[in-house]
Amino acid sequence: MRLEHLSRRLDLDLRIKREDLTDLALGGDKPRKLEYEAAKAVAADASILVTCGSTQSNHARLTTAAARKLGMKCALVLSRDRYQAFQANLLTVYLMGADVRFVETADHWDLEKHALALCDELRAVGERPYYIPVSGTTPTSCLGYVRAGLELADQLGAANVRPDAVYTPFGTGGIFTSMLLALRERGLDGSVIGVSVNARLEKCRENLERWWAGLCELLGRDPARSRGAHEICDEFIGREYGDATEGCLDALMLMAETEGILLDPVYSGKVFSGLLADHAAGRWASGQQLVFIHSGGTPAIFAYHDEIKRHLVKRGRTVDA
Ligand SMILES: Cc1ncc(COP(=O)(O)O)c(C=O)c1O
Repeated sequence: MRLEHLSRRLDLDLRIKREDLTDLALGGDKPRKLEYEAAKAVAADASILVTCGSTQSNHARLTTAAARKLGMKCALVLSRDRYQAFQANLLTVYLMGADVRFVETADHWDLEKHALALCDELRAVGERPYYIPVSGTTPTSCLGYVRAGLELADQLGAANVRPDAVYTPFGTGGIFTSMLLALRERGLDGSVIGVSVNARLEKCRENLERWWAGLCELLGRDPARSRGAHEICDEFIGREYGDATEGCLDALMLMAETEGILLDPVYSGKVFSGLLADHAAGRWASGQQLVFIHSGGTPAIFAYHDEIKRHLVKRGRTVDA
């Protein structure tokens, strides 16, 4: 979909792919991935899905919803952090009846051992757990984002657009890697730009290699094939994962005030802030065609109400609430 007001304002041809509007418990990127992992769980006759993430994990929300939709239970290992209020994504997982276990850890991307221990505990009481890794990313689940990339290519083709760049989030790198493969498959050669939300470049590159190899194997493609122009940037993370940076909050405001579209401060706001920073640095000339992948995460705005309110006031908006 073309963002008419923003295109005019930035003098670009800017489009958005609304992955925040997928059809499961407030939407986001996960349903595309979960479609594949949940099918494996059903085939394995699982009684309960087990996964892990941060306190305000979108993946936890959507895995719980997928489990319920399939008549299964869900157990979550979440890392304790300062967003532990009964609010936003955390509220939704309790509402859907997930079994939530909090652990103390500095790195919520590294909870696998806790989740596997929970699987053992569940097995001991007669459950049949199926474990889905953080962010739902596996080579199989990435097929969901290869399909999303093919869908995007079809939509762009129908609108006669060959984008100069596609901006995606980079968490585990599942979305980025799958989109890259799908767009190249369709002969679209614009730059694919991943905005890291947590990890520094070296780790991101490691992840890219891992998912690329896994996907190429699944799809029978040569992993040595050309990937074309692509880059990952790690300068928009802020102090740490989930840091609502100034640039990110400005990006949220701009999208909300010009297009009435809500971004989140952890993923989509970071990606859009990366696009805006490139634009401000003069990277894109008048009329160039850009695509922004909105991967969802919007419920997190309710957990970030303090930061958002403070920022609105700082930018001169009146907030009487
Ligand atoms: C809203 C949202 N966007 C993007 C991502 C990251 O996707 P990936 O891990 O495939 O890079 C996540 C991961 O949890 C997410 O919740």
